[in-house]
Amino acid sequence: MPRHLLRDDDLTPDEQREILDLADAMKADRFAHRPLAGPKSVAVIFDKSSTRTRISFEVGIAELGGNPLIIDAGASQLGRGETIEDTSRVLSRYVDAVVWRTSGQARIEAMASVSRVPVVNALTDEFHPCQVLADLQTVRERFGRLAGLTLTYLGDGANNMAHSLLLGGATAGMDVRIAAPEGFTPHPDVLRDAKTRAAETGSGVELIADPDAAVDGADVLVTDTWVSMGQESDGLDRSAPFRPLQLNAGLLARAAEGAIVLHCLPAHRGDEITDEVIDGPASAVWDEAENRLHAQKALLTWLLRR
Ligand code: CP
Ligand code: NVA
Repeated sequence: MPRHLLRDDDLTPDEQREILDLADAMKADRFAHRPLAGPKSVAVIFDKSSTRTRISFEVGIAELGGNPLIIDAGASQLGRGETIEDTSRVLSRYVDAVVWRTSGQARIEAMASVSRVPVVNALTDEFHPCQVLADLQTVRERFGRLAGLTLTYLGDGANNMAHSLLLGGATAGMDVRIAAPEGFTPHPDVLRDAKTRAAETGSGVELIADPDAAVDGADVLVTDTWVSMGQESDGLDRSAPFRPLQLNAGLLARAAEGAIVLHCLPAHRGDEITDEVIDGPASAVWDEAENRLHAQKALLTWLLRR
């Protein structure tokens, strides 16, 4: 059975560390690793928009010596109703791995359920594990470690980034705090799974409604859009409840000395983050975006070795 990465806790703490070590090695000598030479082909399918994920996978697969196939789902039969399972059975006959950005997590689970090749979640409504691998690589290069650091996420606690930071952060042994408005707190099952993982790694997971208390002494502050892809016309008023969670200089000043700021991007400057913070000295967002490339190269290499 192939290994998949559908959500962050699909990796054990040791496996996550192995991939991050490999990501550092890939970054240190960018063109020296060609495990996909042959070439092996990777289908990278998009049901939703993307800049970073699309380009970093396409460039990364090529750098590994592989053949990236970037597919707009709308232009494939998947977009005309061919079943996910039938699509997966066919893809397994052509390619060595499938990377997919889609909506519901159940869709990527269906793809993986019949796949003979690894399936990688390139963002679903529920999780964004490739982003969090890059985030962890970025934090580790700044602090030299992950375990024992405190990460605070401010924003929509029920979105893919909050969920992935809970699971991925707990796997890395980080204390994860979520500051989210009422009605936007993490899914209870994800919170439960993050707590289970945190108990194994000796870390902690907390919901802290007050943003000042949530960022107090934190090492890493993370935010994300208040309106994720697919939520544009759900009729919910987000700006009033989310405004107090804006990552601005005032909140940053409460964090630990040397704290860094992450944002998966795209940013909505003036909403979830101010220009002053994203363009300021604490911001690690451009390294974070670059690390998508290295972390995903490491992930594909690792999955295809199994
Ligand atoms: N952070 C991220 O996944 O960016 P894209 O939506 O541009 O791929
Ligand atoms: N939460 C955001 C992440 C974008 C990379 C979204 O799903 O739109």
